[in-house]
Amino acid sequence: MPIKSICCLGAGYVGGPTMAMIASKCPDIQVTVADMNEQRIAAWNSDTLPVYEPGLDAVVASALGRNLHFTTDIRNAIAGADLIFVSVGTPTKSFGIGAGRAADLRYIESAARLIAEVSEGHKIIVEKSTIPVKTATAIKSILAANSPHGATFQVLSNPEFLAEGTAVEDLESPDRILIGGETTREGNAAVEALASVYARWIPRERILTTNLWSSELSKLVANAFLAQRISSINSISALCEATGADVDEVARAIGMDSRIGPKFLKASVGFGGSCFQKDLLNLVYLCESFNLPHVSEYWRQVVHLNDWQKSRFVEKIVRSLYNTVSNKRIAILGFAFKKDTNDTRESPAILVCRDLLLEHAHLAIYDPKVSEETIRQDLLSAGVSPDLIASNVEICSDPYSAVTHAHALATLTEWAEFRTLDLSRIYDLMLKPAFVFDGRAVLSLDALKAHGFEVFVIGKGL
Ligand code: UDX
Ligand code: UDX
Repeated sequence: MPIKSICCLGAGYVGGPTMAMIASKCPDIQVTVADMNEQRIAAWNSDTLPVYEPGLDAVVASALGRNLHFTTDIRNAIAGADLIFVSVGTPTKSFGIGAGRAADLRYIESAARLIAEVSEGHKIIVEKSTIPVKTATAIKSILAANSPHGATFQVLSNPEFLAEGTAVEDLESPDRILIGGETTREGNAAVEALASVYARWIPRERILTTNLWSSELSKLVANAFLAQRISSINSISALCEATGADVDEVARAIGMDSRIGPKFLKASVGFGGSCFQKDLLNLVYLCESFNLPHVSEYWRQVVHLNDWQKSRFVEKIVRSLYNTVSNKRIAILGFAFKKDTNDTRESPAILVCRDLLLEHAHLAIYDPKVSEETIRQDLLSAGVSPDLIASNVEICSDPYSAVTHAHALATLTEWAEFRTLDLSRIYDLMLKPAFVFDGRAVLSLDALKAHGFEVFVIGKGL
């Protein structure tokens, strides 16, 4: 049976853009995105979307009110749908068994219970959230045990591989779509029903079908491999700084080997984002649970290296500024975890700023898309005291006011606008010697040196 009505639980960074793309490509399918957060739903229905993504406004506008709807009426959205995506958050557990590693599945479980309670007839449930392997079994048993109207369900896994900042491109033309389902007649039919939605705009050969567990595990493994490449090049960045090699030259040289490939070899102050660390920790926990300590230790190192990269960046700043940053103004350019997003989850900027604040630095922070409220909240959640935030953090509306009378400037996000900064103006505004710590290699080393800055670039040294 062709799908006529889709609902998605969770209007976040994944659910919102993904459903907007489906609605825009399939005008005959009604797509309803439901979320319990009223503010977020109101924002999706307004001119200022809650998620900043290049090109997303146009995609949403093309379908909003026609066949794309955002609502807080979760029950009705579920009741009217043939196919339900579950895209609620799955943060790392902060308490109890598996704290700091396992995924907190409470939102997934409550979504499953609600679906069971409200549904009639036959429905396809699609796991869009990243979840530990075998979660589908848990969802199935909750659905089976709690359906008062005798509804029947098929559970599919359809992980999302979009990256923030390029979500629209990634949804429009993904490398692959992965759909995992039960290898039964009903399972195959459900997989085919979902595949035929994507096939409206994605070539069939890019739609990959697997069993449920392969699909669930592939998402964790894809993110673990991507994060591992960054930790690998970041480990080499430290060696480059020590030896005088240039990490960009090394990355280029190894990346031209077609077996290695050129992508995801950019050394940086560390990776951030909602997925990499969470999924790595999940994989670590999974391996622990299956009594594979060697495998779990192997992947844990990818996270350790990332933490070390952030702390050694802070150490570099403190050491260079004559071992004290107390009461010194440091301009922070960029707070988002990467360019072209307003998302700050796990952003390396949070820990770098926290540690500088604990050294009593004064921070003047500028980010083109992240709000003042988010920055202050992130620092608070990272354990910085409200008093220290109030007295030592200034949020600036442009880079030049941030650098005025600053001892140092640190770039923590690779925003394109930083590449065209007026370096001589910045040099004039800063105290001397003027230090630049380029955590994203976003500025030109030669130009900085020519202007008289003292420069540290990740992977290139001073
Ligand atoms: C998604 C996936 O859910 C996560 O597993 C994956 O690793 C990354 O992508 P994301 O869309 O980025 O997460 O999360 P978020 O922006 O936090 O959105 C989740 C939404 O679900 C929020 O708007 C929240 O209000 C909503 N939600 C959560 C519900 O509507 N009901 C709940 O019970 C819980
Ligand atoms: C990632 C995956 O790419 C995506 O497929 C998955 O669905 C969700 O997680 P995302 O977190 O949005 O996407 O961003 P990504 O582009 O992967 O960047 C993650 C982090 O790695 C960022 O902090 C980025 O700055 C950093 N990074 C990336 C590097 O430091 N060096 C690189 O070469 C690439």
